[in-house]
This record gives sequence, structure tokens and C-alpha cells, in this order.
Amino acid sequence: MSLSVTFIINRVPKTVELDDPRVTLLDLLRERLDLTGTKKGCDRGQCGACTILVDGRRVNACLALAVSHDGAEILTIEGLSNGGALHPVQAAFIAHDALQCGFCTPGQIMSAVGLIEEGHAGDDPERVREGMSGNLCRCAAYRGITEAVVEATR
Ligand code: FES
Ligand code: FES
Repeated sequence: MSLSVTFIINRVPKTVELDDPRVTLLDLLRERLDLTGTKKGCDRGQCGACTILVDGRRVNACLALAVSHDGAEILTIEGLSNGGALHPVQAAFIAHDALQCGFCTPGQIMSAVGLIEEGHAGDDPERVREGMSGNLCRCAAYRGITEAVVEATR
């Protein structure tokens, strides 16, 4: 038996049939919808590479079951630059050299967008670092990442 689930993904309604109720949002995005910008690092909620926004909140897509999010509004890195212009967080990451290999970058950027919208960290570097602590970077580009998020907050 398949389950029909409808999402709004990057501002576009999308209905998908799921044969397996255990499919995560991460696998749905990457394997069914070809939205591979969202990365699979640990696949167990420990690295933040799969961070997306669900109804405006930061979510680790590897821990979220697709069937549990029927009707949800999902924003991924592919939908961030609306109309071709870079999102301010994307521009700040470039300006501050906030990436090296780039694997963690989509998750870092989506997490930063969510953090800024939450409004708890403000432009305080310590609080930004704490607010971004769920996103690991194997290249240790943390200094640039923090500077970029601080700048994008201002
Ligand atoms: Fe989801 Fe690591 S892949 S937290
Ligand atoms: Fe390489 Fe972060 S830039 S893992």
C-alpha cells in the first residue's frame, strides 16, 4: 500500500507516493526529487549536513519521516535564492570565505537562515557559534562561518 503525501517544496506544491513509511525527508529530497543540495553526512542527526527548513524551523532531514510532514512547507538550499539573486546568507558566506570543501555548506547556510529567523542569537559571535553548534565542519571553517552569519544578521 502506498501513501500519498503532499508538501510545498521550495514554494512549489508536490505530491509523492511513498511505498515505505520509513522514508526520511532527506532520502525523499535526494533520491526521489533530485534535490541533492541537501547533504547526507552521518544520517543519524549528528552533523547537520542535512539541515532544511520545515515550516520555517531548522530540521535535520535525516531524522524526519516524510509521512509525518504531510502539508509541510519545506525550504532547501535549492530554493533559497528566490529569483536568481543570492540570499544574504549565501553572499556573506562567499564574502567571508566560509567554506573549503563545501560539503557542509548547504546545511550551514540553511541553519544560519533558520537561526537568524529565530532571532535568539542576534549578532553576538558567541551566541551565533552556540546557535550553529549542531552543524559540524570537517574543514574547520568555523571562523568564516561565524563571521558570515554575524554579518548576515546585521
Ligand atoms: Fe543528518 Fe548528519 S546527515 S545530521
Ligand atoms: Fe568542508 Fe565544511 S567546508 S566540511
